[in-house]
Amino acid sequence: MTKYSINNSLKTVAVVPVFEKIGLSAQGKLLDKQLGGLLSEMYNSNGFKAKKMQMSFSRTQDKETPAVLLVGLGEEKNLNIRGWKQIVGAVVIALQGKKITGFSLAVPAGLVKKLGVKKFGLDTVVAVETANYAFDEHKTDKEEKVGLLDEVILAGELSASDKNNLQKGIKEGVLIGQSVNYTRYLGNTPPSIMTPTLLAEEAKKLANPAPQGCRVKILSRPEMKKLGMGCLLGVSQGSVEEPKFIILEYLAGKKNEKPTVLVGKGITFDSGGLGIKPGNSMNDMKFDMLGGATVLGIMKAVAGLKIKKNIIGLIPACENMPSGSSYRPDDILTAYNGKTVEIGHTDAEGRLILADALSYACEYKPKEVIDFATLTGACMVALGNDRSGLFGNDEKIIAKLKNKSEEAGEQLWHLPLGEEYAEAIKSEVADIKNIGGVDKPGLGGASTAAAFLQFFTDYPWAHIDLSCSYYGGKGKPWIRTGANGFGVETMIEYLK
Ligand code: BES
Ligand code: MG
Ligand code: ZN
Repeated sequence: MTKYSINNSLKTVAVVPVFEKIGLSAQGKLLDKQLGGLLSEMYNSNGFKAKKMQMSFSRTQDKETPAVLLVGLGEEKNLNIRGWKQIVGAVVIALQGKKITGFSLAVPAGLVKKLGVKKFGLDTVVAVETANYAFDEHKTDKEEKVGLLDEVILAGELSASDKNNLQKGIKEGVLIGQSVNYTRYLGNTPPSIMTPTLLAEEAKKLANPAPQGCRVKILSRPEMKKLGMGCLLGVSQGSVEEPKFIILEYLAGKKNEKPTVLVGKGITFDSGGLGIKPGNSMNDMKFDMLGGATVLGIMKAVAGLKIKKNIIGLIPACENMPSGSSYRPDDILTAYNGKTVEIGHTDAEGRLILADALSYACEYKPKEVIDFATLTGACMVALGNDRSGLFGNDEKIIAKLKNKSEEAGEQLWHLPLGEEYAEAIKSEVADIKNIGGVDKPGLGGASTAAAFLQFFTDYPWAHIDLSCSYYGGKGKPWIRTGANGFGVETMIEYLK
């Protein structure tokens, strides 16, 4: 666990953020004096332009401040929360690369003024926590593991009340950051380990008997059969792994207040089923449960923050595998609400398991339902991997989600639902079909998938197609490779 403290001087390794074209802050100048002009030298050296995330590092002879890192913030008018968090994360990862395990960060006064001191603390600490996480528990060479941070000091001249608020922000930031990392851990864990059964075990760990705790119920195959969850059962029937329908009930709001229901796709591995994925498109399909992991991360944070709302989490979880017992193209499955679905492709499985969960959500007479799903490759093609798609039938929810995602430094992009998409998934033989295209097969894939989900909703609803829930390769300068926990922070802002 990293220890956070607040101080007014820059001790240990000093991190000094600087805006482009503005120069050293008052705090920077003070340290510059202490270090005999080293900072000015670094600032004025050729090549350092204080561009966003640009860094200059130097060790010193000073006992109090053995090293300094100047980090560029870019132009003041361009710096937003997302940028600041990226910069903080990049600093953490860069220092860890130098085997440094603690630093003090000069708090930029202007940014604190803009965000408010509590939010500044919260966002900064979330950025530190998420940068500090590495999925390296399966590495056996200790040297290869990331040395985690021991101590971070936020350094600035602050009033007593500011300090108090900063402390509150830090506390919330730790909680939220750890919830984001929990989602990432669930996503990163290999699919042979993170089975539907283990995902359900993880959900059970969130159970808490306290009045404000989570109640957790796990439905197994016989109960699903009784309830008529034919789509989840259909998708899971080719796998040796038992399907689980995970229900979390967090009821800390008023007794008669309608709940917000969060639904998350929990495919622990998506091979495509009989319509098996070609080439290397099966790689990364351990991440196909990130919708469910996002819901678990949100529930963990919600309980930790003691948010006074009624919130339900629903996670249909199973594996999509090819075998002699698999569901087939041409099969017709019956969803929880009695509607029938013609199977056009076994790789369009996410929308099927969500059909059962979304119709089950009706039982809660929800105020609103928001689902998270790694639903379509098409959404990734459209948006890349740093934005997720947002769909819905309620303008207010959509506007609020967009707004809150910006406040959290995450990015959502509103994409369309519409008649042409609903038309594309009509079936000749059942109520609806699980694939379709606008005029040609495949066209409008993210929207036809969303239209399929819409068919199972009769309440205010939004759908987030998680096209940016994991990074490949080495990851990004501010966050390491693998699942990134997208959605947890936005939803906490939304529910707070
Ligand atoms: N889990 C995938 C979507 C996906 C693909 C997420 C790549 C992240 C990265 C989903 O189940 C799927 O296979 N979708 C198909 C739908 C098609 C068969 C209509 C797709 O996107 O190709
Ligand atoms: Mg699939
Ligand atoms: Zn899938």
